[in-house]
Amino acid sequence: NHGVGVLTSGGDSQGMNAAVRAIVRETLRQGHRCYLIREGYTGLITGNIEQANWNHVANVTHLGGSMIGTSRCDEFRTSDGRKKAAKVMFEKRIFYLIVIGGDGSLMGAQKLKEEWGRFGEELFAEGKITEEVANEGRELHLAGIVGSIDNDCIESDKSIGSDTALHRICEAIDGLVMTAQSHQRVFVVEVMGRHCGYLALTAAIAVEADYVFYPEIPPDDNWPEQLCNLLDSVRKFGKRQNVIILGEGVTNSKGVKIGGKQVKEEIETRLQLEVRIATLGHLQRGGSPTFLDRLLGLRMGYEAVQEVLKNSEDGGSPVIGQKTISKVMCLRGHNIERIELSRVIRQSETANEETIHRNSD
Ligand code: F6P
Repeated sequence: NHGVGVLTSGGDSQGMNAAVRAIVRETLRQGHRCYLIREGYTGLITGNIEQANWNHVANVTHLGGSMIGTSRCDEFRTSDGRKKAAKVMFEKRIFYLIVIGGDGSLMGAQKLKEEWGRFGEELFAEGKITEEVANEGRELHLAGIVGSIDNDCIESDKSIGSDTALHRICEAIDGLVMTAQSHQRVFVVEVMGRHCGYLALTAAIAVEADYVFYPEIPPDDNWPEQLCNLLDSVRKFGKRQNVIILGEGVTNSKGVKIGGKQVKEEIETRLQLEVRIATLGHLQRGGSPTFLDRLLGLRMGYEAVQEVLKNSEDGGSPVIGQKTISKVMCLRGHNIERIELSRVIRQSETANEETIHRNSD
């Protein structure tokens, strides 16, 4: 009987609850213990952990947010913080961990895995754990699930929550279009996504936006002129409203952030048009998950349990002395593939660096 812990970390995303449900129920079905680690890594450090039963995860798939709480935990970024977390895990005999979160959260998990053996030895030497527990927990079995509205994991076609966030964005813009039309206004709609333009770009296509700014391709220096020429020409064809989508993290060629206010001012000074800004903010992370995010959460949760428990028979590595390799559940087409955690992290780091670097060149 093994202890499997689950936590959500970083920004919440719709569909996380479905993943937690599948993890709890599949772990219990296989006859193991399951633990809900509350408030992300903070709960792992402070021991805010509850053993789950079957009913804990009844009626949760339709709920947005994370039912077990999440956080961005600074202490877990330090080795001391991670050692505290390891101590809690040894005490509760939780040697199987499933982390649901974005790239930063998965990176934290990878660090914990790298230091795990050393932490075990130290805790034993300090008399904080018995030899039996130290032996039982000689390996941390880890699996990741990408939960983030940003859909910024290169290895996965879809992260849990991005479909719902797009749905929210489309709904919001559908709601703005008629008022924009009535007043013949331009709306600059600011959307989330951090360094990734997925939400901005795909929403722009779906709502027939006139213009989109997204971080991967910074606009030319003469964007105000290009944008205003375009708006001018579509207005001449009789269009009564315009939607411009502005992704988070968009910068100009000098690396300076382009904000909604600047876009508004450029349009208002060049064209005789009224402009309003709509910042969708955390509404994008709100509300019920779509069918797709529910199903994705459930599938990924189920797969993560299979992955993490696959060597549980002997409690260790397939080959003695060889470390298990942690995997992240990634959607490829219609299939969920288990991709090496270190690869997922490396790819994310490179992509973020490339975007930041390109935008400040
Ligand atoms: O990573 C998800 C995300 O919603 C980003 O799109 C956004 O930049 C960030 O989180 C906002 O974070 P917070 O909720 O901490 O303000």
